[in-house]
Amino acid sequence: MSGKYLVTGGAGYVGSVVARHLLEAGHEVVVLDNLSTGFREGVPAGASFVEGDIRDAGKWLDASFDGVLHFAAFSQVGESVAKPEKYWANNVGGSMALLGAMREAGVRRLVFSSTAATYGEPAQVPIVETAPTAPTNPYGASKLAVDHMISGEAAAHGLGAVSLRYFNVAGAYGEYGERHDPESHLIPLVLQVAQGRRDAISVFGDDYPTPDGTCVRDYIHVADLAEAHLLALSAARPGEHLICNLGNGNGFSVREVIETVRRVTGHPIPEVVAPRRGGDPAVLVASAGAAREKLGWNPSRADLAGIVADAWEFAQWRAN
Ligand SMILES: NC(=O)c1ccc[n+]([C@@H]2O[C@H](COP(=O)([O-])OP(=O)(O)OC[C@H]3O[C@@H](n4cnc5c(N)ncnc54)[C@H](O)[C@@H]3O)[C@@H](O)[C@H]2O)c1
Repeated sequence: MSGKYLVTGGAGYVGSVVARHLLEAGHEVVVLDNLSTGFREGVPAGASFVEGDIRDAGKWLDASFDGVLHFAAFSQVGESVAKPEKYWANNVGGSMALLGAMREAGVRRLVFSSTAATYGEPAQVPIVETAPTAPTNPYGASKLAVDHMISGEAAAHGLGAVSLRYFNVAGAYGEYGERHDPESHLIPLVLQVAQGRRDAISVFGDDYPTPDGTCVRDYIHVADLAEAHLLALSAARPGEHLICNLGNGNGFSVREVIETVRRVTGHPIPEVVAPRRGGDPAVLVASAGAAREKLGWNPSRADLAGIVADAWEFAQWRAN
């Protein structure tokens, strides 16, 4: 059945791809974004656009909405360490205002972008949802605080919510792809080297306890991620807060990613080893069993070369 959804942060990377999927599934989409890190042209054609802040969500939310997909946040780990107050104000303060506006308007369904950063340094991999949460930076702490806030809202006021804890999102969906500024994610950074926009890729530490000494991460295609959001909307039950990891359960090292970009682009990609960054766990790999079981999610784009190829196509399209 088609519905009407508010997509906060729908001018950003993940929000724009999910908004596009909602439209393709026949839903009505209103994007609320203050364009602090997003782009007006990222809002998919067919969606209504409101330029505004989630802290004022009450101005636009009313009972005609069937739910909210909440992507709007700041998400630069390094910046969150330097300016924690910025992250508490936007990610926590903004989400609190949004939950209040939803309560007021009687909108009782929410899908929230949480993150693997809520777990911090994992004691065991793959990481399951019941693993201890001990974020190592204010970004992860702000997202964990929102998860707690949502649990309280579900228990006290009947919200039906799903928090999706993304691992490393990558790839593109047609003309909707990653364009963070500054870019901090590995795949788009390596692609910038292939495009001649950067001389070399920095490898932060090659002495981790991993097979090739570089950090291992779980990369998930943004279109697989988008499909999980649509399933989460159907899975949300009043009074329940479900938390699911989203990853493929496969780890790739930084060197494996660079090698894959070399194969896909045909560029030699020079690399420079730099010191480790504080707070970077050696291995982050998801157990995605809960998403498969509870959402019926079945990702189909787990192949790293395919993820890189889609990101490369988008990067070239943008450059032309
Ligand atoms: N990209 C990843 O790998 C990844 C991993 C884990 C979690 N996440 C989470 O997913 C979400 C989307 O990430 P992204 O990579 O698309 O980031 P992004 O920066 O591209 O998108 C965020 C969007 O939110 C908007 N925004 C920020 N604060 C706002 C506010 N107060 N009011 C209205 N709009 C606001 C920005 O303008 C931007 O368009 C974020 O919540 C992020 O924490 C992303």
